Amino acid sequence: MTVTKAPFGTMPDGREVFEFTLENDNGMKVMILSLGATLRSIILPDKNGNEQDILLGFDTVADYLEKSSYQGAAVGPCANRIGNGKFEIDGQTFEVIKNETDKDGNGVTCLHAGGEFSFEVWQSIITDSDSVEFSYTSPDGLNGFPGEMKVQITYKLGQNNDLHISYEAISTRKTPINLTNHAYFNLSGFASGDILSQVLQLNCSQITPVDALSIPTGELMSVDGTAFDFRVAKTIGKDIECDDEQLKLTGGYDHNFVIDGADGTLRKCAYAYSENSGIVMHVYTTMPGVQFYAGNFLKGETGKEGKSMQHRSGFCLETQFYPDSPNKTSFPDCIYDAGQEFISETVYTFETLSE
Ligand code: BGC
Repeated sequence: MTVTKAPFGTMPDGREVFEFTLENDNGMKVMILSLGATLRSIILPDKNGNEQDILLGFDTVADYLEKSSYQGAAVGPCANRIGNGKFEIDGQTFEVIKNETDKDGNGVTCLHAGGEFSFEVWQSIITDSDSVEFSYTSPDGLNGFPGEMKVQITYKLGQNNDLHISYEAISTRKTPINLTNHAYFNLSGFASGDILSQVLQLNCSQITPVDALSIPTGELMSVDGTAFDFRVAKTIGKDIECDDEQLKLTGGYDHNFVIDGADGTLRKCAYAYSENSGIVMHVYTTMPGVQFYAGNFLKGETGKEGKSMQHRSGFCLETQFYPDSPNKTSFPDCIYDAGQEFISETVYTFETLSE
């Protein structure tokens, strides 16, 4: 196992951004930036022995800062959407940033808490021969969220091609905490085109259906007999264009799936597979939900090596509390007391199948 640190670029104000590379004895490499604690690359051999980087991303700091698809970034303090940018805690109303706008430019919803966690430089330290720790303190009131929050995210690579992401956060005030990572996977390689022929399986019997603004209605919907049934593996493209009201509202899969049996311990929620590369990914998490987002809003932005990130060329599996949890009392509670620690872990493991 080795960890190396190299300069990646500079912020507009001159601060340096570093890239860390974790490498195990099988030659699997994981690259992470101190900008947004961003997972930039996961490199492993495909079935023909060629190295594939299976994450979408960019080559420069400026691209990460300008393009807003949250490529590989850590997201917090409250991932995904909050309806109307408003919630109540103990009778007090908090208004947070509404960074998603309607066609007239009026703010309508809060997405990924406004993005500071994802686009700020984090403190970074190599903690062991297999891990790097990133820390960030968000000031009280940032984008309207109560509490000064100290956050730590550790990336650790194991010898079984297992990447562990551990999250810890603690706030000075009672506040929502929902941390995730926004990696876009393309198991055939980042420049291979769309992900529609890649296979996905989700241990999820329900989703949280949404309204036209992608805010959960508060109900749980069974996936049985719908395009959302990934309990038996199928390609992402199989039903993505079918005549389904939920898919039409979001322009393709962009939904929170309820993980069966979630109880706060690490449990398997997904696997994905590319026949082209033979690369398989298994996903485990302690969180109760996973946002399966099929890259529907990607529209040809220029990414790594000048290759275009075309529509649906990457998919995300963002482990999380359900979207809009601060406003949905029936959802698992994401409100943490002052001083109460948020802890979670998500593990991605990889293997390559030969023909
Ligand atoms: C959301 C998408 C959004 C994407 C990038 C995902 O978590 O569900 O709707 O486009 O993040 O911000």
